[in-house]
Amino acid sequence: MGSVSLKIGDGTARFKRATLCSSAVNILMIFCVITTNLFALYAFTSSSKNHTNNNNNNLVHNKNISLVSEQVSLILREIDLSQKKLAQMEKQLLGYERFDLSRPNIANELKIFLQRHQLPLGKDSRTGITEMVSSVGHSCEKNSDLLSQFMSYKVSGTCPDDWSVAQKLILKGCKKLSRDCVNCFDLVSGGNENQKFVKAKSKNDFLIDDVLALGNGGIRIGFDIGGGSGSFAARMFDRNVTVITNTLNVDAPFSEFIAARGLFPLYLSLDHRFPFYDNVFDLIHASSSFDVEGGKAERLEFLMFDIDRVLRAGGLFWLDNFFCVSEEKKQTLTRLIERFGYKKLKWVVGEKVDIVGSGKPEVVLSAVLQKPVRG
Ligand SMILES: *[C@@H]1O[C@H](CO)[C@@H](O)[C@H](O)[C@H]1NC(C)=O
Ligand SMILES: *[C@@H]1O[C@H](CO)[C@@H](O)[C@H](O)[C@H]1NC(C)=O
Repeated sequence: MGSVSLKIGDGTARFKRATLCSSAVNILMIFCVITTNLFALYAFTSSSKNHTNNNNNNLVHNKNISLVSEQVSLILREIDLSQKKLAQMEKQLLGYERFDLSRPNIANELKIFLQRHQLPLGKDSRTGITEMVSSVGHSCEKNSDLLSQFMSYKVSGTCPDDWSVAQKLILKGCKKLSRDCVNCFDLVSGGNENQKFVKAKSKNDFLIDDVLALGNGGIRIGFDIGGGSGSFAARMFDRNVTVITNTLNVDAPFSEFIAARGLFPLYLSLDHRFPFYDNVFDLIHASSSFDVEGGKAERLEFLMFDIDRVLRAGGLFWLDNFFCVSEEKKQTLTRLIERFGYKKLKWVVGEKVDIVGSGKPEVVLSAVLQKPVRG
C-alpha cells in the first residue's frame, strides 16, 4: 500500500486553455490519493490496536482496502482517458494540427506565417513549451483558395480591381495580407481629380472657396460622406481645413488610397450612426453616394438626423450634385430639409446624366444649407 504513481498527459503544456480543467482534475486526484492513504492508515492502526490476532477481521480489512484500491485505479484510468479526450478536442478546435502547409495552392506568405516557430530563447521554463504557432490567421488556411486568388497578382504591377475577393476574405475571418501594387488611382495624368471642387463644370458644381466664404472663416473641421478617393479632403487640406472622409471600398481600395494621401479614411457603411459626438463639425459634405443602396425615405431621414446631430449650429451642410432620380424624390428631400429648418444659402436644381446610376438625364440638386440655432 502507499504511493500511487500518476502520469497525466504527455507532459507538454502547449494548450494553456486546458489549465482550468486540469487543475480540477488535479484536485480530484489529490483527493483520491488522500482518501486511499487514509483508508490504509485506518486499516493499519486498527489492526495494530487489536493485538489479538483476529485473522478474520484482518481479512475483511484487506478485502475492503483492495476494493478501495481497485476503485481508485479505475477513477485514475477514467481521468487519464478524459484528459486525452480533452487534448484531442482542443486540437480539433484550434485546428492547426490539421494544417497541411505542404499543399501546393497555399500562398507563400501564409505558409511562413502559419508554420511552427521555435521560441527565440529556447524552452520556456514555466510552461515547458519550445515552439509556438500563430494565434491568428487560421481562417485564412480554411479559405486558401480565395486567398491564393487574392495573392496571385503582379508584384509592383497595376493594382488589380478585385476588392470583392478581399471583402469576402474579411467576412470569412481572414484579414487579407497586404500587396505591393502601384497605379491604383491616377491623380497626375488625365482625369479631373485635381480639378474637382476647384473648377466648376456645371452650375451644380460649387467651388470650395465660395462655400468656405459662406462659413465666414469658421470652417475648421469637416466630414465628407461617401468621399471616394478623398479629393475633397485633399482640397480642403490645402485650405487648412481638416476633413475626415467616409468611404467604402466598393470596387477599389479607396480607404488605403485616402490614407496613402495622408488623409483620414473612415471605413463605415451609412447604416451606422456616425462615430462622432454631437455638434462637432463645421461642415458636412455629401454627394450622391449619400443615397446608395436603394435610398428609401426612412433611410434618408435617418441619415439626415445623424448629420444634423454631428453638425454644429451655424455649420454648413453641402449637398453636392445629388441625383434625385425623380421629381418626387426631389420633393421628399426638400420637405425633409425644410423640416429640419435649415437655411438655404445656395440651392441649384439642374439636370445631368447619371453615369454611375441610371445612365439617363436626372434631376440633380446642389445646395449649401446652414443648421439653425435651436432654442
Ligand atoms: C468492510 O466493508 C463492509 C461492507 O462492504 C463493512 O460492513 C465493514 O464494516 C468494513 N470493514 C471495515 C473494517 O471497514
Ligand atoms: C494654412 O496655414 C499655414 C500655417 O499656419 C499658413 O501659412 C497658410 O497661409 C494657410 N493657408 C491657407 C490657405 O489659409
